[in-house]
Amino acid sequence: MIPVILSGGSGSRLWPLSRKQHPKQFLKLVGNHSLFQQTVMRLTAQGLQTPIVVCNQEHRFMINEQLNAIGAEAQGLVLEPFGRNTAPAVAMVALKLLAEGRDELLLVSPADHVINDEAGLLQAVQNAAASAEAGEMVLFGVPAQQPETGFGYIQCTPDARLGTSMQRVSRFIEKPALEVAQAFVDSGDYYWNSGMFLFLASRYLEELRSFEPDIYETCVLAFESSEHAGNTLTIAPAAFACCPDNSIDYAVMERTSQASLMPLEAGWNDVGSWSSLWDVQPKNEEGNVLQGDVVVDDAQNCLVHANSKLVTLLGVEDLVVVETKDAVMVAHKDRMQDVKHLVQRLDQDQ
Ligand code: GDD
Ligand code: MG
Repeated sequence: MIPVILSGGSGSRLWPLSRKQHPKQFLKLVGNHSLFQQTVMRLTAQGLQTPIVVCNQEHRFMINEQLNAIGAEAQGLVLEPFGRNTAPAVAMVALKLLAEGRDELLLVSPADHVINDEAGLLQAVQNAAASAEAGEMVLFGVPAQQPETGFGYIQCTPDARLGTSMQRVSRFIEKPALEVAQAFVDSGDYYWNSGMFLFLASRYLEELRSFEPDIYETCVLAFESSEHAGNTLTIAPAAFACCPDNSIDYAVMERTSQASLMPLEAGWNDVGSWSSLWDVQPKNEEGNVLQGDVVVDDAQNCLVHANSKLVTLLGVEDLVVVETKDAVMVAHKDRMQDVKHLVQRLDQDQ
């Protein structure tokens, strides 16, 4: 079983701390290691091989530095000239392995999560391995607790053929509207998609080919013209530029009829936005998370991150204030999913 770490996102919802040159997975947001390093350490366990990392080519040196710093290594690097989202990223890894005659299980993992119970995660993965070997497209699901609109939602039905803890996926809805997410949570019947998947390389490519032939075909062409050197595959930009941009969730997991779910109750948290970062940090008596040179008076439930200046708050609540050398963001805590729209607007204005 090969861990495949997807590390090519820009983490725009954690702007202005997370930047294109230095995205959130490489930052020490929680604890003494970056989220990428924590992911590698979590997946360096008995029974798993060293990982394959898929990332933007500009980040290869940062990846190597961060691996060296924890005494880890990758069995392969797949370097993208630009991101085309997660469906093509996983396809390039699957094509590389099949070309080497290795139709193995891929444990696809994001690089930006916190998981407190690592043993619990590995147990869930091991329990799902036989089904994945038999051709199932396995998702790991976390019971949905609040109406987060940035997640995929999964409903299941029992299926005796899958073994005791696994269930058949009957519905997968990626990033629903708030009212829909609220109804799912109220029903108590839905899981969040954790963003981790387990399947055979060949099964992924079969499903991708049937649902998204354009992505499949362009990835095959891009693979054929890519550069292979040692354990590194550098994807050819000309062919990859024609690849449609789509996530594995929309392209494959929402549509496949062979999806099955393994419940994951391992202290999972997606550190995708300032509000989820606020959730995983220790808070003071007023519910504030204060990082850096910060003084507050009569402030409640605020997250304040100061990088280079003294930041003060007076008489406010539910604010996120992030100060960096070249940008300051002040926003309501309930609008954290919209930070990526703000970043898109900044990109357009530049
Ligand atoms: N190599 C590569 N290339 N990696 C990418 C790319 C890309 O173009 N785009 C994103 N990634 C990486 C990100 O760095 C992250 O580690 C992972 O793939 C998932 O991408 P996100 O952009 O963070 O996805 P999301 O958070 O919006 O949604 C996914 O995760 C949720 C849980 O955190 C989906 O799988 C949801 O269904 C899920 O609930
Ligand atoms: Mg994410």
